[in-house]
Amino acid sequence: MVDSARVRVTSAITRQPPPAVALFRVESMATTTSGQPHQQPSQPSPSAPGQVGEQPLYDPTAELLADPYAVYERLRETAPVRRIVGPDGRPAWLVTRYEDVRRALADPRLSLDKRHALPGNYHGFQLPPALDANLLNMDPPDHTRIRRLVVRAFTPGRIEMLRGPVRRTADELLDALPAGRADLIASYAAPLPIVVICELLGVPPEDRRDFREWTDALVAPDPSRPGRAKEAVRDMLAFFTGLLATKRAEPGDDLLSALIAVRDDAGDGDDAGDGGDGGEGGDGGDEWAGAGAGGAAADGLGEDELMSLAFLILFAGYENAVQLIGNSVLALLRHPDQMAALRADPGRAGAAVAEFARYEGPALLAIRRFPVEDVVIGGATVPAGETVMLSLAAANRDPERFPDADRLDLDRDASGHVALGHGIHYCLGAPLARLETEVALTALLERFPRLELDVPYEELRRRPSTRARGLLALPVRY
Ligand code: HEM
Repeated sequence: MVDSARVRVTSAITRQPPPAVALFRVESMATTTSGQPHQQPSQPSPSAPGQVGEQPLYDPTAELLADPYAVYERLRETAPVRRIVGPDGRPAWLVTRYEDVRRALADPRLSLDKRHALPGNYHGFQLPPALDANLLNMDPPDHTRIRRLVVRAFTPGRIEMLRGPVRRTADELLDALPAGRADLIASYAAPLPIVVICELLGVPPEDRRDFREWTDALVAPDPSRPGRAKEAVRDMLAFFTGLLATKRAEPGDDLLSALIAVRDDAGDGDDAGDGGDGGEGGDGGDEWAGAGAGGAAADGLGEDELMSLAFLILFAGYENAVQLIGNSVLALLRHPDQMAALRADPGRAGAAVAEFARYEGPALLAIRRFPVEDVVIGGATVPAGETVMLSLAAANRDPERFPDADRLDLDRDASGHVALGHGIHYCLGAPLARLETEVALTALLERFPRLELDVPYEELRRRPSTRARGLLALPVRY
């Protein structure tokens, strides 16, 4: 943690009128969907490769940990919608082709609400209600109601105001590196997003910590410490309970204080009305703000929803950003020609983030989905209530969509990648993710004209996770 590197992120967000709370005022918005009709999945055909019939369950875990892209290539070609043993040990359907994944991400029949899972069929994160009532477990109208409360804090314009503070933080972290060599995950990729997200939310410096232990316990659990995930959940609950109490007592110029005000002004939020159907698929992106929330949407926020929202923003805003920065630096180290091109024209870094995310985005899988009715995906009929895993990483390496997909190519048009999701759950923090990655790379390359791996590539250790791909450490010399 780098207290000295505190940035005035929140004031950058809230300095501009309207004041913080007004950022979250619900306004009736015209529909902001792309206007594209939702495409129906292709119909089953007897010869479709997705037709799986009574296939035996395949457990891809070990192979995915060793080399996910080789497994995904094989599955895309031979069984693009495959019954597998999911990360929770229960049966699931793994979808690997770009067209199927992208379409499914925007299919309103695929619910994120666990109540649509068949009993006993899903056993994911076991979170208490105060952390579980978050956007990634919700469908419209609740999803619409809550997302619109925060989306204004994450528009590209607002986030752009953070460029200076994020750059200063990056520079301070680089200043603090030891001479000659360092682990860039521990001393750069991890602390940068921690500082940024804590400033944004308003986590006081004395309450900050290295969130890696908690997020690792959930996303990449150590098999030798079986009780660790439960402990981490307990610790996180205590952390957020304390944080909300502190912020209630001493509100600040930050996102969390503003959300608390929304919550406290609106009563218990249980009377939240019907906020519309959340719109349909489309191009993702920030136009999803408030999509489909026409009509008499209520602006309430329940207490569990408030804490869960804070938890999700912190968790997602930290966990994925660390891995994306780390994976992007590694991708450059492995592609010296691309690194040279970026050094020669640093102005390209912003646009290049899409390609880094496509090439090695950290979220290998989207959050699991549960069909609310039988749904045909890639020619396979997935029964209602079964678990569907959409492989973002496999989709992003699909040569049908991205020719020569296994090559990092900063000249490529990588738009349309799904590393940040697609549809109504498109990453809320996408503009921040882009900014942090762009600034982190630009500052690093400027500082070190000679940057190289300090161990052979084969010796790099990755987190043991089939959900989120990232490095345990990135030793470099400079
Ligand atoms: C840096 C790299 C990041 C990646 C690769 C990433 C990836 C994703 C993906 C794939 C989803 C959609 C999941 C699904 O539909 O199943 C998502 C949603 C979300 N992300 Fe990110 N994310 C990143 C950064 C951030 C940041 C910085 C924040 C917040 C500050 C954030 C907050 C969220 C939230 C709140 C959602 C849920 C949105 C909703 O359900 O409406 N993410 N992210």
